Amino acid sequence: MTTPQRPTLVLPTAGVDVEYHLGDGLLGHAAALVSAQASGGRRFVVTDENVEPLVGARLAEALEAPVFVVPAGEATKGWPTVERVVRWLIGCGVERRDVVIAVGGGVVTDLAGFAASILLRGLPWIAVPTTLLGMVDAAVGGKTGIDLDLGKNLLGTFWPPRAVIADPAALATLEPRQLRAGLAEVVKAGMIAPATLEHVLDEHLEALCAGRLERAIPLIHAAVRVKGEVVAADAREHGARMALNLGHTFGHALEAASAYRRFLHGEAVAWGLLAVLCVARRRDLLSTKRAHRWAERLEFLAPLPGLDGLEWPALEPFVARDKKRVGGEVGWVLPRDGGTVSGLSVSNAEAAEAFDWLRRLSPSGPFTDSL
Ligand SMILES: NC(=O)c1ccc[n+]([C@@H]2O[C@H](COP(=O)([O-])OP(=O)(O)OC[C@H]3O[C@@H](n4cnc5c(N)ncnc54)[C@H](O)[C@@H]3O)[C@@H](O)[C@H]2O)c1
Ligand SMILES: [Zn+2]
Repeated sequence: MTTPQRPTLVLPTAGVDVEYHLGDGLLGHAAALVSAQASGGRRFVVTDENVEPLVGARLAEALEAPVFVVPAGEATKGWPTVERVVRWLIGCGVERRDVVIAVGGGVVTDLAGFAASILLRGLPWIAVPTTLLGMVDAAVGGKTGIDLDLGKNLLGTFWPPRAVIADPAALATLEPRQLRAGLAEVVKAGMIAPATLEHVLDEHLEALCAGRLERAIPLIHAAVRVKGEVVAADAREHGARMALNLGHTFGHALEAASAYRRFLHGEAVAWGLLAVLCVARRRDLLSTKRAHRWAERLEFLAPLPGLDGLEWPALEPFVARDKKRVGGEVGWVLPRDGGTVSGLSVSNAEAAEAFDWLRRLSPSGPFTDSL
């Protein structure tokens, strides 16, 4: 168990040091941790309807903080909810030294972080992620954001939280499908920095997928370290941070082409990671042996939702439109031995071939056939 006041990691993010506290049972010490960050000011908890009875209410009570509960799900991450949150805060008489505490998955941390970033020209906030995806990804890196009907995450800010408090004990109530989807981002981090993560994945991934939650800590720790290092090198996504988009060009296209209904984000990313393994294999950027090892690790996340009914012509425009467009060309990130290479141009024919290969795989695995 981590000593409450000592962060597990310090993540330099857009000019500030974010303390990342990770430990089993840490939520029991959250009041002390928050006090260390928020001396004097009041605290306001924002959470969602699922997390409130599990974690949010108890935490708010310990912090003597009022709570605002939003509906669960991505549809909440929009302008109307931001306005409700800020109106509530203003109604409570919020001041600039007060702290917003976001307790929930990536939807809540993105939403509450965004609200905090624009209210009174920026209030401090603390992220208490309660999903694996939140712990390893959404709460790390300083980006906040909301969706518009025109697209996901179109409004956003770089506004890092003061601290992140991650207690893997909270994952006990998470649906296994959500846990596995979050692990896709951990596998992605492993492909970006194999030296840091490969051995941790091989020691703990299978057991964690089988429900052994005590194995989450080393995986979260290593994945946060990797994302933290990438962000420290490039907080505002000018270069190195592009690596974090590994698997996302295809993943976003799958999500969009299925109207965001079939895949959890991490599930689409898992397919996307397989797609880039295929492209990298065909280009000989990656040895067969290494590509197979990554495909086998992704098999622990199976079964993935199937690809039936999705055709390349429906996917192609989304691939082309992906936000990583560089000078009219899509800049892809591909795995290679020892890490990734960014900003590559991948032809339509190569992408179509990779999709064709995905379609021939069974969503339950194995994922190594013809790779
Ligand atoms: N800012 C960033 O850098 C960044 C990075 C990655 C993802 N994101 C965003 O994160 C969001 C996805 O996050 P998510 O996958 O955590 O989704 P989510 O917040 O919707 O949570 C998934 C579901 O799990 C429930 N839940 C949360 N914690 C729980 C717990 N401990 N027990 C039981 N149920 C629980 C939620 O109520 C929800 O129904 C997306 O909007 C994405 O854009 C942001
Ligand atoms: Zn992602």
